[in-house]
Amino acid sequence: WKTLDDMDLAGKRVLTRVDINVPVEDGRVTDATRIERVVPTIKDILSKGGKPILLAHFGRPKGERVPEMSLQPLIPALEEAFGTRVVFAADCRGPSAQSAIEAMGDGEVVLLENTRFHPGEEKNDDALASEMAELGDIYCNDAFSAAHRAHASTEALARKLPSCAGRLMEAELSALEKALGEPKRPAVAVVGGAKVSTKLDLLSNLVTRVDTLVIGGGMANTFLAAQGLDVGKSLCEHDMTGTASEIAEKAAEAGCEILLPRDVVVAHRFEAGAPHQIVKTEDVPSDAMILDTGPDSVAHIKEVLDRSETLIWNGPLGAFEIKPFDEATNAAAGYAAELTKAGKLISVAGGGDTVAALNKADASDHFTYVSTAGGAFLEWMEGKDLPGVAALG
Ligand code: 3PG
Repeated sequence: WKTLDDMDLAGKRVLTRVDINVPVEDGRVTDATRIERVVPTIKDILSKGGKPILLAHFGRPKGERVPEMSLQPLIPALEEAFGTRVVFAADCRGPSAQSAIEAMGDGEVVLLENTRFHPGEEKNDDALASEMAELGDIYCNDAFSAAHRAHASTEALARKLPSCAGRLMEAELSALEKALGEPKRPAVAVVGGAKVSTKLDLLSNLVTRVDTLVIGGGMANTFLAAQGLDVGKSLCEHDMTGTASEIAEKAAEAGCEILLPRDVVVAHRFEAGAPHQIVKTEDVPSDAMILDTGPDSVAHIKEVLDRSETLIWNGPLGAFEIKPFDEATNAAAGYAAELTKAGKLISVAGGGDTVAALNKADASDHFTYVSTAGGAFLEWMEGKDLPGVAALG
């Protein structure tokens, strides 16, 4: 695929697909990371004399014009991040979009209304893509985090105009390629989170790509149960123990070591500050719940990190939202951040709760790369082709 460096942008209308699906509470953006990360692309287009016209989705309005899912309230946050005026158009196609674009002043940006207000967006509708294509001369996709969706603004549109990847898309793809494409070895993956069932494809792919797979969080309980251990009242998918054993077999065949907790933190209530104790995984009381990975296991994870060159991280190691069950996640992430700072580790993280967990551990600033993507990061880790990337050619 091409990048902004390959395009002649002067005087061109650049339809720029961004992912500004940011968390908003009481009309205010509570985490502007996704907005900040598209700034280099917008500034680059402007500095080369192009006219950035932003296409984006917000929430899941399912083809309806849902006022609470308008992109208009994001204008102040965008203007602050871009340092320029951002003009809103009430539709992502047709006359209102056309006139906003025709009236664009130098250095200005146009934001088009939520693409998902049209049912054709999620259907990857060709006619909708053609209408959007009329608004631009060049298409730039900077929305890696929406690239797992084959939608009109991420897929069909890319085939209708000269297309390129934006700076954030480039950065995401190159970081991910470094971590899993041709990683420096040994490579370790840390995968946590609640359920094995949501990460089956991911685990199956990873065991063929890395040297060590550290499993934490609720999903580790399913693996422990598959080994015949009693996990008490812990979150556990008992119907997935056969699958967990198959993944363990696949790992053994591929020469990938799976690291499960040796000790765990257990409590009787899932509550902040609940009385808790550390036990070996074979000694989990039958009336208790596992809520975090234990300190002995964390020491083991640190040893693995010490001898690794590349780390890829997805998901927390315990119930990180409530104290003190965030300790394993904080300690392991903090250690990975230190090794990265010291130039000893390439560390890449992304997907769902991961960024929140790393932020809480004050670790994300020191990771080599933290992806803005949730679902797209997971699909990429599963080894799937992302339609939004494939369409860039
Ligand atoms: C995300 O928040 O991960 C992306 O914006 C994609 O959103 P979606 O899951 O609603 O397609």
